[in-house]
Amino acid sequence: MEPIKVAVQGALGKMGKEITSALCREPGMQLVGAVDIEAREGSLAKPDGSGSVPLSSDLDSILKGCQPDVLVDFTIAQATMPAVHIAAPRGVNLVIGTTGLAADEIKEIESLAIAYQVGAVVAPNFALGAVLMVHLAKLAAKYLDYAEIIELHHHLKADAPSGTALSTARMMAEARGKPFCVPEQKQAARSRGEQVEGVAIHSVRLPGLLAHQEVILGGPGQTLSIRHDTISRECFMPGVIMAIKKVVGHKGLIYGLDVLLGLKEST
Ligand SMILES: NC(=O)c1ccc[n+]([C@@H]2O[C@H](COP(=O)([O-])OP(=O)(O)OC[C@H]3O[C@@H](n4cnc5c(N)ncnc54)[C@H](O)[C@@H]3O)[C@@H](O)[C@H]2O)c1
Repeated sequence: MEPIKVAVQGALGKMGKEITSALCREPGMQLVGAVDIEAREGSLAKPDGSGSVPLSSDLDSILKGCQPDVLVDFTIAQATMPAVHIAAPRGVNLVIGTTGLAADEIKEIESLAIAYQVGAVVAPNFALGAVLMVHLAKLAAKYLDYAEIIELHHHLKADAPSGTALSTARMMAEARGKPFCVPEQKQAARSRGEQVEGVAIHSVRLPGLLAHQEVILGGPGQTLSIRHDTISRECFMPGVIMAIKKVVGHKGLIYGLDVLLGLKEST
């Protein structure tokens, strides 16, 4: 079988470097081109030492010259939409991990994918374990009435609480159809984190951490803890590789790794 030919936009970034390495290790996939606004050289040495691929800041020329089946995009939100407008008309399928896309931009990606009959996978989180953590927390939310979240991240993270913690609390409440119970306290508490749907979210910021989240549910005489730890960016690679395999046979949009894994119906 022919290998799936893949180009990576954002190839010089932290995720781009991890993905170009993963593609070189993956049987049945071939890295054929690289794009980055910071590109200064005309070629990118393959991380496995097996030669090089064309590298440019001009996406159109890379797509024209390399004819990839899939474009993987991990850049910034402002770069993603122009890339979709260039790639979809060329019949190139899309795997997008860039975060910060607005709801109307995601709708636009869907419309373009349908119009040009290509596949698009957009997932704000490609870490299988993180998606499973939220799925399991949603399941447990129906049976235990109290929940708190501790999220722990590196000290340079801009926001607190994390977007993942906020959306986990909201999805858990949605799964049970009502907010969680809040423990009664005799005295006004001075430090109970941010309250979201009855879930207190506590944020830890320390050098040495990467991205971690623990959901603790409580009921009479018992607690249940569901924890995910990101040890390195490698954690995103199985999800990205899975998306590349899936997207070549798909027409239209798949939004979220949970949908790709069959954990959730597409909405
Ligand atoms: N979906 C996920 O699971 C997941 C995981 C990690 C990071 N991300 C997201 O992926 C994106 C990239 O993260 P990162 O840590 O690799 O960032 P980074 O800053 O290390 O890399 C981004 C790269 O994109 C390039 N770039 C910027 N604008 C461009 C443009 N117009 N055209 C071409 N290239 C351009 C930059 O030069 C840089 O090399 C962010 O949006 C981040 O939030 C998503």
